[in-house]
Parts: sequence; C-alpha cells; structure tokens
Amino acid sequence: MVGGRPLEGTVRISGAKNASLPALCAALLTEEPVRLTNVPEVRDIRTMGRVLTALGAAAEFRVGGVVDVHARQLTSVEAPYELVKTMRASVLVLGPVLAREGRARVSLPGGCAIGARPINLHLLALEKMGAAIDVEHGYVEAHAERLHGAEIDFDTVTVTGTENLMMAASLADGETVLRNAACEPEVGDLAELLVAMGAKIEGAGTPTLRVLGVPSLHGASHRVIPDRVETGTYIVACAIAGGEIEIHECHPAHLQPVIGKLREVGIRIEEGPDNLRVRAPRRLRAANVTTLPHPGFPTDMQAQYMALMTQAGGVSTITESIFENRYMHVAELERMGAHLRVDGRTALVTGPTPLSGAQVMATDLRASACLVLAGLAATGETIVDRVYHLDRGYYRIDEKLRGLGADIERIS
Ligand code: EPU
Repeated sequence: MVGGRPLEGTVRISGAKNASLPALCAALLTEEPVRLTNVPEVRDIRTMGRVLTALGAAAEFRVGGVVDVHARQLTSVEAPYELVKTMRASVLVLGPVLAREGRARVSLPGGCAIGARPINLHLLALEKMGAAIDVEHGYVEAHAERLHGAEIDFDTVTVTGTENLMMAASLADGETVLRNAACEPEVGDLAELLVAMGAKIEGAGTPTLRVLGVPSLHGASHRVIPDRVETGTYIVACAIAGGEIEIHECHPAHLQPVIGKLREVGIRIEEGPDNLRVRAPRRLRAANVTTLPHPGFPTDMQAQYMALMTQAGGVSTITESIFENRYMHVAELERMGAHLRVDGRTALVTGPTPLSGAQVMATDLRASACLVLAGLAATGETIVDRVYHLDRGYYRIDEKLRGLGADIERIS
C-alpha cells in the first residue's frame, strides 16, 4: 500500500465477529435449527464452524452472511487442541456442551500474542454451578449430571467468561446470578439470541445478570449486531488519511466511548441511527486514553488509536489495562518512524511524526489493523506481512479501503 491519499465515499460495516462467535456456540444448546444473519465472512467464523462440526453439529455457511446451525445431536464433547490453539474463542463451547451433555472436554488455550489469557474464572464459575473440573494433558475435563444455579461474582470482568456462564446457566436448574458481568454489546446480543431461543435472562447490558434455567431451548433466527471495532477502525482510517467518508450499517450507540474520544482529538463525527459521517480535521490533537471494560474505551481499539496519535500534535499517554502485553505494534510503528516509549502498561506517543512506508509484520489482529492505518499516513510503500491476522477479523479490509480511494492491494 502507498499512503497519502485522502479517503472519500461510503463503507458498509459487517456483522460483529465477537458477537457471531458466541452466537454460533449458543446454537449448541438446542436440538432445533438456529439461523444467524449478518455473520461476517472472516476466518475466525470459519474456524468456529469447524469446532461445531467436530462436535457433530451441522453448520452451513450461505452467501451474504447467513449461517444455519443444526445441533440435532452432538456426537462428541471435545474441542480439540488443533482448533483451540488457532482460536481461543473456541472455549465458548465449554458452557453449552457441558450444560447440554453433562460433560465437555476442551483444550486449554494457552497464551497468545497479547497475554497469558487464562480461563480460570470460567472454570471457577462452572464449579460453583456444580461442575467437577479436572485439568489433565492440556485439556479441561468438566462433568455435571445437571448444572444448578449459583451466585457468581467475577473477580475481573471477562467477556467470554460472562458469555460461557450465561449459556450454561440457561439450561441449569434454578437461578444463576452473575455479578461484575461484562456489559459489552456482544454480551447483550448473545442474551437477545438466547431469549429468542426461550431462555429467561434479565439485566443484560448491566453488571448483574439473572438467568433462570429452563429445561430446554428451541430454535430461533437472529441478526448479529454490526461490528463496533470495524466501525472504529474506519473512523480512524479517515482521520489518519484525511478526507470525508460515510459509514453505513453500523450502530453508533455501541461506539459512544470511541466516538467521544475521537471527537476530543478533533475528528468531526455526525451520527445517524445506523450510519456515521466522518470528516478528518486539518490537525489532530493528542489525548490520553485508558482501555477499560465497556462502557470504557475498548482494548480492541487501542492499537488503532496509537497509530492515530502518531499523527496528533503533542504527547499522548495510552494505558492498556485489560491485557498485559498488547503492544506488539509498538516496535513496528517505530520502524515506520513513530516516537514511542513503553513503560509497563503505558505507552507515550509523541507526535506528529511523519511516517515512512516500510515492510512490517504483526502477530495479532488489531496490531495488524494498526499497521494498515499507519500505512495510510505514511509516505511511500508499506508492506504488511501475515495478512491472515487481518483476515481473522476484518472482512476484505483491502477491498473496503480501496473502495474509499486508498492505494492498497493484496499481494498474496
Ligand atoms: N481473565 C482472567 N481469567 C479468566 C478470563 C479472563 O484472568 O478466566 C483476564 C484476561 O487475561 C484479561 C481480562 O481478564 O486480562 C479480560 O479478558 P476477557 O476474558 O474479557 O477477554 P476474552 O473474553 O478472552 C474478548 C474478545 C477480545 C477482547 C476482550 C476484551 C471475543 C471472542 N474476544 O476476549 O477480542 O479483546 O474480550 O474486550 O469476544 C479481538 O477481537 O481482537 C479480541 C482479542
């Protein structure tokens, strides 16, 4: 890609990857078919399709983001290492499979490019619901004739932990209360699907969730929410490249923490019900940010925000409070000319610095997005290696940016 071209035109946002992944797993809770629409055609979704198939469910991917899952009968209770190691979100089958089959065997995910990412809180909570859990040979083995309701206080806000427990509790005996639950819009979207399947859930979107278990769930059809991180990424793309764009089929209400911060640095953002108009400022201002659980500034936008701050006047402090090691993009940005300093969980960005194109590489999804954004601002050619990281979570980011006038091309 070659930077320096302002963006103009319209981009359409895809369905949320992180809402689609738990939704696919929720389909394991019923013998009846579940239809999901607005599912993004990204690699992680395909991987989850393989996890479901390994369990004996039929998952059919149709054009246009329609996925039909039919888990009439499960033929296995195991999510194997080969799949879990490529995608941690595979642990989302633990709750539903255990609740439905009375046992589940899921590979422990291990660390990843952004930190240790344990699942101890998922396991502790399932134990409170009556599961016997052993960790052996790298696998979590969980057993429970029948899960029962429990009072669960999460020590840390965990998104997939909340989702796993919400699914398990939907088929448990009695009431489960989840406290310090994640309030991310993706959790609310999963609750909506579960309720459409017959679950009894109150408080979704708040830190206290009440789930009254039911004996069985039924099929449903559900449209997945738009991807708020993809939306935020295109706002930053416009701000960093210059120009004016329209973002369609998004959900601005889910993006308030991001929109607020991006307005503070000078970006003009006009909100419609399901669209945004974004205008790049002549000059960007530096502003500090700390990532926090929703409704705080999302960690999944931290890397993109750092790329933006390299172009802002002044010093900005970025504090990553969710993951201990989510600065894989820092060294690569420095290779492009950025002035950065990392001290523990805080990064100091001094801008604006002219970026120059370089060959760069990242080891996770959002860090890769950050490098593409930096490439839009850089002079000369930037080559981003290992595009498969981008393909895990962004639907055709190269095509979408090209549609907005960027000079970007997929080499292989
Ligand atoms: N944590 C524990 N123990 C647990 C669970 C979490 O200590 O049992 C810690 C984690 O190590 C981390 C913090 O709690 O420090 C929050 O982690 P969380 O469990 O919320 O993360 P996650 O559920 O594994 C989801 C998203 C991530 C996103 C985070 C935070 C999905 C599939 N993944 O992960 O998305 O960064 O929430 O919002 O929903 C991405 O899309 O690029 C991505 C990494």
